[in-house]
Amino acid sequence: LVEAGTPVYAVYEGRIHSFQDNDKPLDNGPTIIVEHKTTADGPSFYILYGHLSRDSLDGLEIGKTVKKGEQIASVGKYPENGGWPPHLHFQLIADMMDLSGDFFGVAPPSKRDVWLSICPDPNYILQIPDTLFPEPAYSKKEILEIRNEHIGKNLGVSYRKPLCIVRGFMQYLYDEDGRQYLDVRNNVPQVGHCNPYVVDALARQAAVLNTNTRYLHENLVKYARRLSAKMPENLKVCFFVNSGSEANELALRLAMAHTKQKDIIVIDGAYHGNTDNLVGLSPYKHNGPGGEGPPSHVHKVDMPDPFRGEYKHSDSEAGKKYAEDVGRAVQDIENQGKGICAFICEPLMGCGGQIIFPEGYLKEAFRRVREAGGVC
Ligand SMILES: Cc1ncc(COP(=O)(O)O)c(C=O)c1O
Repeated sequence: LVEAGTPVYAVYEGRIHSFQDNDKPLDNGPTIIVEHKTTADGPSFYILYGHLSRDSLDGLEIGKTVKKGEQIASVGKYPENGGWPPHLHFQLIADMMDLSGDFFGVAPPSKRDVWLSICPDPNYILQIPDTLFPEPAYSKKEILEIRNEHIGKNLGVSYRKPLCIVRGFMQYLYDEDGRQYLDVRNNVPQVGHCNPYVVDALARQAAVLNTNTRYLHENLVKYARRLSAKMPENLKVCFFVNSGSEANELALRLAMAHTKQKDIIVIDGAYHGNTDNLVGLSPYKHNGPGGEGPPSHVHKVDMPDPFRGEYKHSDSEAGKKYAEDVGRAVQDIENQGKGICAFICEPLMGCGGQIIFPEGYLKEAFRRVREAGGVC
């Protein structure tokens, strides 16, 4: 950035190729393009000077000669410069492609090679030291190579042509070329990516305090109060955690401490988290690639899927019928001379295929588990 009014000098001798006020918002503003010769009778190249002051165009004529070092313009002020903080747009152009008064100024990184052949690096002329530039970004290929070397293979990369996602905003993700994707795939972004309200609250708190919970702080109790006001009256004690896995681990420990039992019923296809215990409770994982099956205290019941399962939407008793399998699992546990600890299920199965349970399933399943002394 420079002060508005800063003089702009011609770098070489040349002639005015074209000029124009590109006055749409965030365009190049008043712009001058100067044609230069590589040798007396060699090919031409061009330099575009953009975001100039409007009066830089006064009295200009196409073909007018420009001397090396001559002031040809000055940097324009906001907003007449196209609506930017004052700075100079300096662009080398090898081929004007029959355009005049303006030229393409931005391109996707994936087309970098093509555009560099048309608009060579202006630093050949400007000689700005490397230390003043940000480090060049890695290509997708480089990122993948480094990832393969330094990141565990358990973290798979989606898609045959992996996406390089550099930004998120609400329901959208953006790749390195600025292409927008409607995100229906990424893990649980309930309030959207980078929701400005959340970002603002995080940034403000991070700038003030981030400690564990050993000290008194009114935010902790205020939040616990707000949250429990939304729950049934007897649910008023909060444990705050950082992830779904921690929440489920804690729930599991509470259930075991309460029932003094270990045996758990899970639904086929369920996913409950990434700890050892929770992989044990997640058929999606322990029956998936590399899985080693369920531990002996985990009992699987049919997925109550009213679309692909045995009992369909059209069956008004489907919920009850699927819950019978929960009754069967409770019976199996008791037949082994053990008691039930808990039944764990997602309110809506995610990894299992976005399964919405049929009416009455949970009520009936919970009844059977609770009657046998388990929690859910
Ligand atoms: C249903 C369900 N439970 C638990 C988890 C684990 O949550 P986290 O990844 O925050 O540990 C997930 C994560 O996707 C989930 O979808």
